[in-house]
Amino acid sequence: MTGGKPFYITTPIYYVNDSPHLGHAYTSVACDALARFMRLDGRNVLFLTGTDEHGQKVAKSARDAGLAPLEFCDRVSQNFRTMTKLMDISNDQFIRTTEERHVKASQAIWQAIAGNKSPKGRDNIYLGKYAGWYAVRDEAFYGEDELVKGADGAKRAPSGAEVEWVEEPSYFFRLSDWQDGLLAYYDAHPDFIAPKSRRNEVVSFVKGGLNDLSVSRTSFDWGVPVPGNPKHVMYVWLDALTNYLTATGYPDTQAAAYKTFWPADIHVVGKDIVRFHCVYWPAFLMAAGLEVPRRVFAHGWWTVEGHKMSKSLGNFVAPQQLVEQYGVDAVRYFMLRELPFGSDGDFSRRAVVGRINGDLANDFGNLAQRVLSMIQSYCGGKLPEPGALKAADENLLASARALLAKARTEMAEPAFHRALETIWQVVGDANRYVDEQTPWTLRKTDTARLGTVLYTLAETIRHLAILAQPFVPETAAKLLNQLSIPPGQRDFAALATALIPGTVLPKPVGIFPRYVEAAAAP
Ligand code: MSP
Repeated sequence: MTGGKPFYITTPIYYVNDSPHLGHAYTSVACDALARFMRLDGRNVLFLTGTDEHGQKVAKSARDAGLAPLEFCDRVSQNFRTMTKLMDISNDQFIRTTEERHVKASQAIWQAIAGNKSPKGRDNIYLGKYAGWYAVRDEAFYGEDELVKGADGAKRAPSGAEVEWVEEPSYFFRLSDWQDGLLAYYDAHPDFIAPKSRRNEVVSFVKGGLNDLSVSRTSFDWGVPVPGNPKHVMYVWLDALTNYLTATGYPDTQAAAYKTFWPADIHVVGKDIVRFHCVYWPAFLMAAGLEVPRRVFAHGWWTVEGHKMSKSLGNFVAPQQLVEQYGVDAVRYFMLRELPFGSDGDFSRRAVVGRINGDLANDFGNLAQRVLSMIQSYCGGKLPEPGALKAADENLLASARALLAKARTEMAEPAFHRALETIWQVVGDANRYVDEQTPWTLRKTDTARLGTVLYTLAETIRHLAILAQPFVPETAAKLLNQLSIPPGQRDFAALATALIPGTVLPKPVGIFPRYVEAAAAP
């Protein structure tokens, strides 16, 4: 832990029985870039991810696998840890909802909610009977009016998931009494839901009136037992959302981590789970007398080569396969650069290769390679001493120095694509500067000027590499190594320093290789 201002960021916890795919990798990479940015900016970051392990869906998968639910979860949860490592995710904690600490936290929030009255003075939780539709795939209840007709004519959830009719005793959360409280909260916190379009959807949904929510199930037992009535298990979303509190030490509200990090600064979620995070979650928290997170940001969905990704369509994209083919940083860069954060986008191999060979290899890779090789061969591998700066040098350095402030603005949204665009504008400026200054000529005509030009370029690359770290951490580290920058000099505070002339640089090795399509098998 550092002394900086705290920043608590979470991914959703992934359904443990899923096979990790592009969509999961995307949510994790986006959070990771933001977490890394904040750490480099001196913030005291807690970055949480993990697996969602209870509920009917997981119980069914365990049964299909012929395993006891916990044994099943123990095996498959590892798949997400592996994905996390593969994508170079710098999470501080990996939570599993089957952990004892989490069961304790879930029961505690239940008791806190049940122990308080609703704004209308009624019990927040009451026993009743649920009779309605349930989609196991979404682990969500749906009203008749929300259902749509599938291609086969059967009723479906709006997500396309199959629904089943459920009738069973259930505890209800008095969500209807929280309508005004929620609307007042959205009003007072205009940035709570982002992007704006999602906020509008949520506000109109809540304005339309809220039904009480079934928060326990009795027809299966794979879940957190309801305190005082173990015939019921808690509705998996109430348990799952609570993971964000568990990681801070809740129910110990005196715990250092709770005091430091709650309320969370940002929950990053996919657009499909906005209602859970922006309606149910703040209502549960208000009912429990706890603070509501500062922000929920909903990102869009990827299609693959123009189609919805699915195993049955054969276009399921596993992160492992992507990383093996393109390299982890190229995949991270592509995901964050290709589409505005919050919008939907299409993942196509053509687009990935276009970014790799364009932005990465041709622009940034080439810049680094040209400059570092010239320092090697023209300056004996030592950073040259700059002389008096000309306007062109001042301009390039000024645009590099202006990057941090711009990146901060973009990352506050967060708008990863714009942050990257801004950084790459300076990559472009630097490449143009090389072409204009022609150091290969200066070498013969004016070695003092050559030193100034190469120093200016090296210093610009230092800025670029430091700022690129959150997005392409492995490659940025390689580049910083090639500039002989010690590990303690790589955070944003170090941007205020400058390279020391005379520093010996190692022999350059290429960063961001071009992607060459393997020849088709004969
Ligand atoms: N377990 C719940 C979350 C509970 S949080 C308290 C869940 N898990 S999930 O594994 O289904 O989804 C996790 C994340 O992956 C979601 O944010 C979801 O939007 C995202 N994606 C799943 N498929 C996706 C795409 N095709 N594209 C982009 N993201 C998508 O929901």
